[in-house]
Amino acid sequence: MFTSGLKRSVVGITGIISRRGLASEAATEVPKLKTFKIYRWNPDHPAEKPKLQEYQVDLNKCGPMVLDALLKIKNEQDATLTFRRSCREGICGSCAMNIGGRNTLACLCRIDTDESKQTKIYPLPHMYIVKDLVPDLTHFYQQYKSIQPYLQRSKVPEDGKENLQSIEDREKLNGLYECILCACCSTACPSYWWNQEEYLGPAVLMQAYRWLIDSRDEASAARKQMLQNSMSLYRCHTIMNCTRTCPKGLNPGYAIAEIKKALIPA
Ligand code: SF4
Ligand code: SF4
Ligand code: FES
Repeated sequence: MFTSGLKRSVVGITGIISRRGLASEAATEVPKLKTFKIYRWNPDHPAEKPKLQEYQVDLNKCGPMVLDALLKIKNEQDATLTFRRSCREGICGSCAMNIGGRNTLACLCRIDTDESKQTKIYPLPHMYIVKDLVPDLTHFYQQYKSIQPYLQRSKVPEDGKENLQSIEDREKLNGLYECILCACCSTACPSYWWNQEEYLGPAVLMQAYRWLIDSRDEASAARKQMLQNSMSLYRCHTIMNCTRTCPKGLNPGYAIAEIKKALIPA
């Protein structure tokens, strides 16, 4: 016991020494300055137009991801810069934004280390803005709620415990349940830009499909009926921006096509 405790403290001391070494090396390194241009808008000054504000970050002293740069700017240069983030590992979906022209998650997006190129960062497109990089997702969440994203059954299981399904039926949910509702796909969809009051958009439709094909769910007829109108589903014109941009590598365009097939009258 004593020996392993000793080993651990020696490793700890070595770690401290090597970190100090790295810190002093970084101090003598030539700064690698990268320019970020970030969308700013403050609701407290509504008369002021939105603008792009420039910040420089020394990449030698910054983590590799865009979220690292944003946190560094906020911590060291400008505490007023506002954005959402939580998990920093592509799970919560809150750091979705438009980086270098693409909707993605700041925590999964590597900084382009070419210092000659500026990186522009905007909030998710075609959304109302709360402040800076924070979009208002109220309508998006209402649309998600509208598809009743939960298991619907008339009876509880006989053993009063779990609703079981076969391994094959469970596999059908792969590629669907992983969606983190970041809204990158919906806000990349031209049809959603122009019709978002009524068109549900790829993220919500993919979740509609997820419940439609769940073998345990008994509400598929009602779920199909909800989508059987000219706007909720059929505004999708298979442009596939959604699938191209999904930072989790999912395929909402395919899910929408499958719903359309499922809605063809027999
Ligand atoms: S399908 Fe992808 S892009 Fe769309 S909300 Fe889900 S994780 Fe985000
Ligand atoms: S495939 Fe449909 S949902 Fe996806 S971007 Fe195109 S129109 Fe939008
Ligand atoms: S911080 Fe959670 S997905 Fe980026």
